[in-house]
Amino acid sequence: MPLSTGRVLAAAGLIGGVPAATLVVLMGTEALAPLPGLVALGVTALAALALARIWLGNLRRLSEALRQAADDHGEVPALEGPLLLPSVAEIGETARRLARALATQADQVARLRQADAAIIERLPDPLVVLDEGGAPLRANGAARTLFGGGGGAPGGDLAALLRHPALAEAVAEARADGAPRRADIALPVPVPRELTVHAVPLHPPLSDGGRLLLLLSDRTRDRAVERMRADFVANASHELRTPLASVIGFIDTLRGPAKDDPEAQARFLGIMADQADRMRRLIDDLLGLSRIEITEHQPPIGRVDLAALAAAEAEALGPVLAQRGVTVALALTPGTMAAPADAGQIGQVLRNLLENAARYGREGGTIRLAVAPADPGGTRWPARPGVMLSVADEGPGIPRQHIPRLTERFYRVDRGRGRSIGGTGLGLAIVKHIVNRHRGVLLIESEEGVGSTFRVWLPAEG
Ligand SMILES: Nc1ncnc2c1ncn2[C@@H]1O[C@H](COP(=O)(O)OP(=O)(O)OP(=O)(O)O)[C@@H](O)[C@H]1O
Ligand SMILES: [Mg+2]
Repeated sequence: MPLSTGRVLAAAGLIGGVPAATLVVLMGTEALAPLPGLVALGVTALAALALARIWLGNLRRLSEALRQAADDHGEVPALEGPLLLPSVAEIGETARRLARALATQADQVARLRQADAAIIERLPDPLVVLDEGGAPLRANGAARTLFGGGGGAPGGDLAALLRHPALAEAVAEARADGAPRRADIALPVPVPRELTVHAVPLHPPLSDGGRLLLLLSDRTRDRAVERMRADFVANASHELRTPLASVIGFIDTLRGPAKDDPEAQARFLGIMADQADRMRRLIDDLLGLSRIEITEHQPPIGRVDLAALAAAEAEALGPVLAQRGVTVALALTPGTMAAPADAGQIGQVLRNLLENAARYGREGGTIRLAVAPADPGGTRWPARPGVMLSVADEGPGIPRQHIPRLTERFYRVDRGRGRSIGGTGLGLAIVKHIVNRHRGVLLIESEEGVGSTFRVWLPAEG
């Protein structure tokens, strides 16, 4: 863009005005002869014009460079051509440095923002931002997973959560006085969940209008563990109390009514021995279970010849099997090795499963005990190399609804019957923990009226 003549003239007037006026006054008072005066006037005008052009040209280039930098948010370009005004060059240099510092800062701010966004997005706990009206604005990945929303929008379950009276109250209170609030809520659908929600008001609001932060922690698992622990203590004491009450009762009888009745004494002592034995077994099982739990995160070491171990355990259980007239049909592939595996623990798995098959299977029936390399194409166990052991009986089977709960401690399908035949409901819990420690899989299949099959997949060396 050329310099406008008017501007140049105005600037030249400003620069040369005073000396020109002085010359004119000097000529007027005849202190200066007309000819030299006119020459001096002409030179002054020319010098003022030249200076005005240079001055305005330099300033225009500087302002253009600054405008360009502001538009592109980047470097201030170097000023082209000679700069006759040194101060303009200096200002240009300072502006360039300023622009560079601003660009670095802007870059840092952008990177910090990105880091913040990434941290919030990947936070394991769900986080939701509410706007002024209490409507959800944004949700992080964990919240979207929890509430089933796609993209950045939280899903429909969130609306149900926000309507929850306890949460609505916490949000209203937090907004009213600006202090964080906490609410414990239980959502019954679609999956029962227990959540702790922290409502944190934001002062000042976020740049996108966010006024309140909802931080959720899913406490479902913790609560289940707490309940399980409480149930466990209640169950364990209940299981011990029954035989203990019976022993105390018999002691009283032996001291009193049966004091002089050797026959009754012998009978009662027999029952007392059974009850004491039951308590001992219960305590052994509980201790065993807690020992397995302690080591559950440490993988076992060693290799186990599963076929040989299965044959040995079946033989050792002979007396129990004979009592119920049960026979064991073995289908063992020799040399089937489980590894890494703990022989003592796998032996216990076999014992517990065989004992159950004998106890709950058909009296006089057959138990099929099989050991073989696992089919790598199976869908219900890993495709890695593995071995499968299975124990199948011809019992009445287990109603479908009980199957998922069989491995819970003290869980018995038929409480009364289970206890009367000596079960404590810990056998399968022990099996489950041992299998978990071996990174194996326990599969339970049962058909009512036909029988039950318990299968255990264990890793083998590849
Ligand atoms: N083969 C089976 N057929 C039918 N029901 C079974 C079978 N195995 C287990 N069950 C059911 O599962 C319940 C839990 O079995 P588990 O082995 O954990 O405990 P238990 O046999 O009662 O006691 P424990 O093994 O501690 O002496 C049993 O009470 C029984 O009701
Ligand atoms: Mg059992």
